[in-house]
Amino acid sequence: MARINENFLKLKAGYLFPEIARRVNAFSDAEPEKAIRLIRCGIGDVTEPLPPAARSAMKEAVDELGERESFRGYGPEQGYEFLRQAVAENAYAGLGVDADEIFVSDGSKCDTGNILDIFGGGQKIAITDPVYPVYVDTNVMAGNTGEGDDSGQFAGLVYLPCTAENDFTPALPEEKVDLIYLCYPNNPTGTVATAEQLEKWVDYARGNDAVILYDAAYEAYVQDAGLPRSIYEIRGARECAIEFRSFSKNGGFTGTRCAFIVIPKELTGSTAGGERVALHGLWARRHSTKFNGVSYPVQRAAEALFSVEGKTQIRNLVEHYMGNAALLKEACERCGLAVYGGEHSPYVWVRCPEGVDSWGMFDKMLQEAQVVVTPGAGFGAAGEGYFRISAFNSRENVEEVCARIAEVFG
Ligand code: MLT
Repeated sequence: MARINENFLKLKAGYLFPEIARRVNAFSDAEPEKAIRLIRCGIGDVTEPLPPAARSAMKEAVDELGERESFRGYGPEQGYEFLRQAVAENAYAGLGVDADEIFVSDGSKCDTGNILDIFGGGQKIAITDPVYPVYVDTNVMAGNTGEGDDSGQFAGLVYLPCTAENDFTPALPEEKVDLIYLCYPNNPTGTVATAEQLEKWVDYARGNDAVILYDAAYEAYVQDAGLPRSIYEIRGARECAIEFRSFSKNGGFTGTRCAFIVIPKELTGSTAGGERVALHGLWARRHSTKFNGVSYPVQRAAEALFSVEGKTQIRNLVEHYMGNAALLKEACERCGLAVYGGEHSPYVWVRCPEGVDSWGMFDKMLQEAQVVVTPGAGFGAAGEGYFRISAFNSRENVEEVCARIAEVFG
């Protein structure tokens, strides 16, 4: 008898974004005429073409593969040296991250889920709420939680609510935890952490022998040079934090797929018997066993994002999406809605009007405006009463969404 992993049965609904797609498809089947006007501001998926620097590097790399002399088969599982070096020199200039502490992968979604392979069971895990659903769902699958309740919370996890009432700033856990997920700029609330706030987390983690899993997939959207883009800007973070980064949201690689994680060599965890073990070695072992590397053309394209032209092209993309975020924020504010985020992040987080819950708002926007948004409750119990609008879109679509918001709420 092939036994299943029964932890999967604890997951009540489908994964958030396919669930939204399912509901949108049902709407399109039921109302084909309205569906023609659909504008998707749900999942944070980029819409603008790949930067030219990445495209030419990718094409050249494909041509190299077409010649016997320059053909390449399997690459190094951890990523080619040229990309790891470019990441160390550019993304972590002055922060003391070495190329061999970087592991290239096909996405932060996979990395934030897969990282659980190197941690044991029975740990206390702290998760901000609302949160990117992958952190919760992968812990459920790994058996790190009990059952879920009607609000979507799972027994055993330590939830740290982030709402307007606490300025979307999670309090430090009251009990001792072992793993802490943080994401800044935050998905979904669009808020950003100051260095002082991150210092508190690093102090907590070091004081409690905990590891911070720091998701910085949206770091390119930080607009203020005084705000940290990497957890390693904080003294002591190398001893307590793993950082996740991606080329998806800066270089428009959501379909191209390339990301990386940083595991500093001095970062350790403990065996049940108290022996300290370097997490770097465990992840290297895991990565080389379960992963065969990102394709050569894609790694060359990612490397090109660090060239002078590549950096300018990324800046232009970020400016475009941030311009969209500003328009969406203004449009909601003009209608008297309470709006958060959107200043250092491509996500605008909006409070639902009195008497409408998150999924009610999703339905209202779909039915009355044919705009797809993400219901806040899909990101966790504390997201109830909010919805998220993604600024990843063309300017034309965003202007149209703003006009429709005014029609529905104005
Ligand atoms: C989101 O919409 O929250 C993200 O785009 C999903 C993802 O990056 O996997």
